[in-house]
Amino acid sequence: MSANQELKFSDAALREYHEILGHYPTRQAALLPTLWIAQREFGWLPDAAQDYVAHLMELPPAHVRAVVSFYTMFHRKPVGRFLLDVCTNLSCRLRGADKIVECISRKLNVALGETTPDGKFTLASVECLASCGTAPMLQLNQDEFHENLTEASTLQLIDELASRDI
Ligand code: FES
Repeated sequence: MSANQELKFSDAALREYHEILGHYPTRQAALLPTLWIAQREFGWLPDAAQDYVAHLMELPPAHVRAVVSFYTMFHRKPVGRFLLDVCTNLSCRLRGADKIVECISRKLNVALGETTPDGKFTLASVECLASCGTAPMLQLNQDEFHENLTEASTLQLIDELASRDI
């Protein structure tokens, strides 16, 4: 998304938004799924995107910003094509999450919260993703779990992702 690009939902996203609205008693209750649509449409949620959603839903912009800043699933800055959310909560930490973060960080030469210069990978840490029994784990692009990680399997995953065309 470029700085000058006008922010608005595509026709398909607008249809989806109106469909979602019908499932909730109030517009406010539909905010999370609407923000999810916005993030999919715009790639991330800059202030302009949050303002667009606030205007669309006739909600106070401050409320939208508060919700976006509360949830780690919403991105307030651009993320790479592959978002690696490493769980660093207790069970994962006890089973080596710090080593997983370190090995990704070393391999990609990025710190937590950073994106590689080619825009391919973002490394982030998140709270418990309810997969404690298969710790340590990471979530790829918010919808794919990789569990029982070792340094070797993590590096293998990164190599496999790096080889994909983007
Ligand atoms: S502590 Fe990592 S999934 Fe629960």
